Amino acid sequence: MEHNIPELVAQLTLEEKAGLCSGADFWHTKTVERLGIPTLMVSDGPHGLRTQDPERDDPNHSRKAVCFPAGCSVAASFDPDLARREGAAIGREARAFGVGVVLGPAVNIKRSPLCGRNFEYYSEDPVLAGELAAGYINGVQSQGVGTSIKHFAANSQEYRRMSASSDMTERTLREIYLPAFETAVKKSQPWTVMCSYNRVNDVFASESRMLLTDILRTEWNFKGFVMSDWGAVADRVKGVAAGLDLEMPGSGGFNDAEIVKAVKDGSLDEAVLDQAVERILRIIYLYADNHTPQEFTMEADHEEARRIAEESMVLLKNDGVLPLNPSEKIAFIGGFAKNPRFQGGGSSHINCFRTASALDSLPEHAQVTYAEGFPADRDAYDEMLAAAAIKAAENADKAVIFAGLPDSFESEGYDRSHMQLPSCQNRLISEILKVQPNTIVVLHNGSPVELPWRHEVKGILEAYLGGQAGGAAVTRILFGAVNPSGKLAETFPEKLSDNPSYLFFGDGDKVEYREGIYVGYRYYDTKEMPVAYPFGYGLSYTTFAYSNLRLDKET
Ligand code: BGC
Repeated sequence: MEHNIPELVAQLTLEEKAGLCSGADFWHTKTVERLGIPTLMVSDGPHGLRTQDPERDDPNHSRKAVCFPAGCSVAASFDPDLARREGAAIGREARAFGVGVVLGPAVNIKRSPLCGRNFEYYSEDPVLAGELAAGYINGVQSQGVGTSIKHFAANSQEYRRMSASSDMTERTLREIYLPAFETAVKKSQPWTVMCSYNRVNDVFASESRMLLTDILRTEWNFKGFVMSDWGAVADRVKGVAAGLDLEMPGSGGFNDAEIVKAVKDGSLDEAVLDQAVERILRIIYLYADNHTPQEFTMEADHEEARRIAEESMVLLKNDGVLPLNPSEKIAFIGGFAKNPRFQGGGSSHINCFRTASALDSLPEHAQVTYAEGFPADRDAYDEMLAAAAIKAAENADKAVIFAGLPDSFESEGYDRSHMQLPSCQNRLISEILKVQPNTIVVLHNGSPVELPWRHEVKGILEAYLGGQAGGAAVTRILFGAVNPSGKLAETFPEKLSDNPSYLFFGDGDKVEYREGIYVGYRYYDTKEMPVAYPFGYGLSYTTFAYSNLRLDKET
């Protein structure tokens, strides 16, 4: 059905217009019954749906859904088409759940390995992040469901995320922190953009006319609406004037009244409010008018999540120990073999309908023993667990240690203070190396860690946070059913202090981005600095030969 949006806006009262510019609750826009204006439901995002259970009056109780590999994983595929497939699967689920906008992708640049939310983000490289974001958005939106690319802009830390100012030159902003958004807007026209909590050069993103209007709309031609991150509004009237259309989740009517007051006293032009309402209504109807029921099965999506994870894991080292052979005696060590860490904490946390661990997914006839080795949820060396694990390793042909960061080490809401694995894990790995030379480490983490034993172990598989089927993907790679092909979308420095942001990361409310454009590999390459594993690194089980290379141009 065609809707005449300007005519609809003309029929709304000032109060109704102000009301439409903030949420009805945590996840819905307001309705206007007398004009038949429907609600739009939004859900996190990005790597699966956190949709509130309609049976429960609790915004944090979500329906069961499929948890796909997190951004840190998918990025390592370097494959925008894979991101598109993940988006399409999430879009189908969203449509079946009645979700109109998925809150993702999250494309902030990984300035430091410490950012607690790096696991959701794609890369230190804006080109890669932008191409993947465009793929993901095209996938979700191919299902008639919108996206909200976030967090716009320069939100590369969690520390004081609601007040800190990311201070940088215009060149740094434009070359490093904006291009992922720019590429995505230009290539995939997301239905919405979510502005971030932080300030940029002292101005709140939610009040920045430069970001929300001059760059996003005038320069890039963004057509959808801008929503705030949850609670990111400081001065609502300034926000409307700057181009922030929808406040989420809302302020119990307080800010709506401020908008009404500002229009009445002439400090906000009503035409600007009308434009915001128009943009919101266009998207509400874009969804409502095209919404037809969609079917999906969680089982099929679980398999799709596994296939995506298989394309996203990075083989960092293999001195002839992988793939494993079912005729060998293998010791799996570490609680992550049984209960893998496959997603991060915070707003992207999915209530998974099922999970697959590496232990659950062994090939037939595999001779695998299991020992817990260390408590996977904290840093505490347990002598009894360690002794049993060392024994299991000694009695096997090869040991595979499932190491990684506990949930409490990295999450939305706070940053890490160091780049190390729990010391209990590092200690156990060294103890095992004394009895078992054929030791392989599988890593479960959302951001680089220091690897003090990397010269001693014979194999390292970076499994990242591979979603609910990630454990099955790990086993299939370990046993050679799948050839690993992921490449690092971020540098693994030798140690934290090598990172270019080290001296200025997350310091106080004014965060100086003094390294400028020298983020990630741009810095390490320019400095000719040795790193543990560079951006783009990743092995496979095969070899490649290039031949007959030809140029198609003279110059
Ligand atoms: C997060 C967003 C998320 C929103 C809704 C905020 O705290 O920063 O990424 O979409 O909550 O859950």
